[in-house]
Amino acid sequence: MKPIVEVKNLSVEYTRGDQKVRAVAGVDLEVSAGEILGLVGESGCGKSTLGKAIVGILQGAEGEVNFDGQQVSKIGRGQRDAHYRNLQMIFQDPYGSLNPRRKIGDQIADGPRISGVSKADALEKAESLLERVGLPRNAVERYPHQFSGGQRQRIAIARALAISPKVIIADEPISALDTSSQAAVANLLVNLVEEFQMGLIFISHDLSIVRRISDRVAVMYLGKIVETGKTEEIWNSPAHPYTKALMSAITHADGKAFIPLDLPGDVPNPAYPPSGCRFHPRCPLAQAECGSSEPVHVSLSDGRKVSCILQQAGSAPKALTF
Ligand SMILES: Nc1ncnc2c1ncn2[C@@H]1O[C@H](COP(=O)(O)OP(=O)(O)OP(=O)(O)O)[C@@H](O)[C@H]1O
Ligand code: SF4
Ligand SMILES: [Mg+2]
Repeated sequence: MKPIVEVKNLSVEYTRGDQKVRAVAGVDLEVSAGEILGLVGESGCGKSTLGKAIVGILQGAEGEVNFDGQQVSKIGRGQRDAHYRNLQMIFQDPYGSLNPRRKIGDQIADGPRISGVSKADALEKAESLLERVGLPRNAVERYPHQFSGGQRQRIAIARALAISPKVIIADEPISALDTSSQAAVANLLVNLVEEFQMGLIFISHDLSIVRRISDRVAVMYLGKIVETGKTEEIWNSPAHPYTKALMSAITHADGKAFIPLDLPGDVPNPAYPPSGCRFHPRCPLAQAECGSSEPVHVSLSDGRKVSCILQQAGSAPKALTF
């Protein structure tokens, strides 16, 4: 399947006082139409920064983002806005992104209106999208505070859909919701991806939901993707020691959170990443050379990609024991 979004060597550097923090440090990633890619990793590893860089709302991102085979930086300025409408981001707190003083219908209609749709048609679209996400059509007349957290997230999803995006990046879209809304909103996203053949990058701390809904998973550690592969392969035979640590934490933590990991030390300060393999100070399988040379990101025979010297390009994943 041809990827709809392809990210190559993407980096983002923040300035914090006199420190430079490379929150995303050379990431390659892709997602196809109709595919859900789960993005996981400890707090502060750069997931939100990566998401924002892909949708183009961050200054200073470097690298290549290809959309539908076209390099975004080569799209003319006049077409950039139209391009960015293809990529929509949904956040953890829908209340923060909805305007409390405007009717829901008008907020959903904004996107189609910008593309030249008449007011009446845009409101009609808002009503049918509200219905599609499980809310009554007359919700168009109401205001954000009249809805629960789960309903507000559905409204945020309807607003994103109004622009007919090809890719949605959902950053912890269910973590602020109560347990019953979490499953319902996750299922809604799965159905919408299938129905509209969008790509979805699903960022979450809840590994049990990631496992249930994702086709593939990308594991991030300190600004880098250390492993990507099909969900069940990642769970059944992790090829990177960090992936294995994450996947075993789920059984301890009952799927709710993977922190603290059963690993020595904390996540290092990204302003001063460790030399060589960034994971080496915490890795139970670290070798002498891990502190000096950075592992190459290689493809294994089952199609997954991993950055660890224990794995060899073209071979089956070597089982890890610790
Ligand atoms: N605006 C900013 N200015 C400076 N540093 C930032 C900024 N935003 C994020 N960072 C730093 O960049 C790194 C990555 O942050 P990011 O929010 O992308 O991580 P995350 O994986 O989304 O974490 P979480 O799981 O807690 O949401 C962190 O070290 C964070 O402190
Ligand atoms: S390269 Fe070395 S330190 Fe890094 S994950 Fe592999 S074994 Fe561990
Ligand atoms: Mg985040």
